[in-house]
Amino acid sequence: MKLIVTGGAGFIGSHFVRFWLGKHPTDHITTLDKLTYAGNLENLSGVIKSPRHRFVRGDIGHAPTVKRLLPGADAVVNFAAETHVDRSLLDANPFLQTNVQGTYTLVNAAREAGVPRFVHVSTDEVYGSVEKGKSPEDAPLDPTSPYAASKAASDLVVRSQWLTHGYPVLITRCTNNYGPHQHPEKFLPLFITNALDGIPLPLYGRGLNIRNWIHVLDHCEALERVLKRGRPGEIYNIAGDREYKNIDVARLILRKFSPRGSWTWWIGTAPMKRGGVRLRLVKAVFNRITKDNTVYVSENRTDYETQKCGSGGKRIRGVGDGGVFGGDWPSRGVCGFRPREGSIIKKRRYPHL
Ligand SMILES: NC(=O)c1ccc[n+]([C@@H]2O[C@H](COP(=O)([O-])OP(=O)(O)OC[C@H]3O[C@@H](n4cnc5c(N)ncnc54)[C@H](O)[C@@H]3O)[C@@H](O)[C@H]2O)c1
Repeated sequence: MKLIVTGGAGFIGSHFVRFWLGKHPTDHITTLDKLTYAGNLENLSGVIKSPRHRFVRGDIGHAPTVKRLLPGADAVVNFAAETHVDRSLLDANPFLQTNVQGTYTLVNAAREAGVPRFVHVSTDEVYGSVEKGKSPEDAPLDPTSPYAASKAASDLVVRSQWLTHGYPVLITRCTNNYGPHQHPEKFLPLFITNALDGIPLPLYGRGLNIRNWIHVLDHCEALERVLKRGRPGEIYNIAGDREYKNIDVARLILRKFSPRGSWTWWIGTAPMKRGGVRLRLVKAVFNRITKDNTVYVSENRTDYETQKCGSGGKRIRGVGDGGVFGGDWPSRGVCGFRPREGSIIKKRRYPHL
């Protein structure tokens, strides 16, 4: 099989490339990545020089590039995107450009080139916050950030290729991923590296947002099932087995990584006591536009056609069995985080915080 993987120098895409080449010893992958601030060829170390792997630096929105690469491919897996919610609050233009326009250019070219399958990797954030229960695949789209809005738009653009042309696309919507090599401006790496450095963790509001977490390799396995067995035109939710409030994640990280071992939870400028425990090193941030009580959880689809895709009931790295906060992942994960240089994290604050 010959795959085109876009965004393969990023966090999830690079895990997918290494996972796929490791598991499918006769397959070939071409990675197309623009190498934005979020892309890093070191994420592909180990496979970058493989005779079964080719790296092409390029933009999914550049039609001549994608038209050159697509003929003869068996499938496209599209990870390429602008992905950081906070950046989308500052300027949504790159998000619309890559996530919507770029995705259209790519999927349209894939259809014209006759690539037999197109997997579009999306997010559960397109559903917005749920009052109760979990979002199924047919839940209304109600994104709350420009990032999520651009991903929702890209989902519709991709799906329209199925509805109007019968082009076999598959859309996946996964919850929050964790694992090595995530860009250090993202929630978990930022909190872990800040805790290690003794820098306050910038927690939005009171930390009551709830998120579901899944190991990045569980996500890759589910994507493999969707790619192989998913039904064209379908949408597949992919989720981990536990939800956490962000404040609880911050607590766990501080317990594990803070060199001082004690915490103060700062509300504005005033340190608070909470539950008899002094919480230090958590700084509440109130100026994010989104709410403090968003709950992004989606049903995990286990029926990936016809026994279908999802996790198939099998979970190799559930949160509960040594996942986010247990086992050896955190230490491996920290080793796998890239240095702060070249990142907005160098400033140790987002510009708007
Ligand atoms: N990280 C998560 O928790 C999560 C959860 C669900 C879904 N997703 C989705 O998975 C995908 C990958 O997420 P990630 O966390 O690995 O992102 P990431 O930011 O780590 O990587 C994105 C990659 O895309 C590349 N890229 C950006 N614009 C491009 C363009 N125009 N052309 C080619 N390449 C371009 C970047 O250089 C980078 O290598 C995204 O579509 C995201 O929406 C992520």
